[in-house]
Amino acid sequence: MGHVLVTGATGGIGVALVGALVEAGHRVTAVGRGVGRLDVPGIEADLAEPGTLAGAMGALEDAGELEDLTALVHCAAISPVAAVADADAEMWQRILAVNVASAAELTRLALPALRRSRGHVIFVNAAPGTTGVPRWSAFVGSKAALRELADSLREEEAASGVRVTTVYPGATATDLLGEVRAAFGRPYDPEACIRPETLAAMIVWVLGAPADAYPAELSVLPSPR
Ligand SMILES: NC(=O)c1ccc[n+]([C@@H]2O[C@H](COP(=O)([O-])OP(=O)(O)OC[C@H]3O[C@@H](n4cnc5c(N)ncnc54)[C@H](OP(=O)(O)O)[C@@H]3O)[C@@H](O)[C@H]2O)c1
Repeated sequence: MGHVLVTGATGGIGVALVGALVEAGHRVTAVGRGVGRLDVPGIEADLAEPGTLAGAMGALEDAGELEDLTALVHCAAISPVAAVADADAEMWQRILAVNVASAAELTRLALPALRRSRGHVIFVNAAPGTTGVPRWSAFVGSKAALRELADSLREEEAASGVRVTTVYPGATATDLLGEVRAAFGRPYDPEACIRPETLAAMIVWVLGAPADAYPAELSVLPSPR
């Protein structure tokens, strides 16, 4: 078992993920806002400000907390719903900062440790069907960029033994999904969705893949009812 850095640890999926990681015997450090309310150690960071992350990660490094790092799971995201006609520059900058640029920057800062441990980077993306969705261009655009970031990183770091996985969850029962469905005027039935604990268990399984193979991509859908 290893030491896993998790963003979005205070969210619906993130809380379940932290619980599953700890249950599996991993040490977890959360990165984000309000992480002090979690049961695991954390560092405060606003992912809307990627330029501040070097300071936050530097503090962890100075405390010797990156030495045994084995994995980084990017679970944070924002998902504003707005047509292109209504999405201003500030909104685009914010979503690309939180959903993409901070993931790239945290990965960059963690790479020296992850290379040492031949570690694993997991990007929580969104179901591959989310392409070209009216009123969701900024979100689907950010997730498309996140997929390309992951695919580039996988090839770049293959020689250093770092594994890179993109997880594509379908509808998962969190407050966020309820809000997104309401914004689209679509019904939300948590019972028809993936339980966050189930998705979390699958992410823990990915981290525990044997030495000779691992899933580069994992699509997770609610079972047919
Ligand atoms: N739920 C679904 O159906 C679904 C489906 C496909 C993919 N996903 C993906 O799964 C991941 C988690 O989704 P979720 O449903 O658990 O969403 P959530 O409950 O809204 O969690 C989002 C997390 O991101 C963090 N975050 C947002 N802005 C931040 C910022 N500026 N700085 C630091 N942290 C920030 C939030 O922390 P704060 O509380 O500080 O904002 C929270 O911990 C996301 O990447 C999402 O796109 C979800």
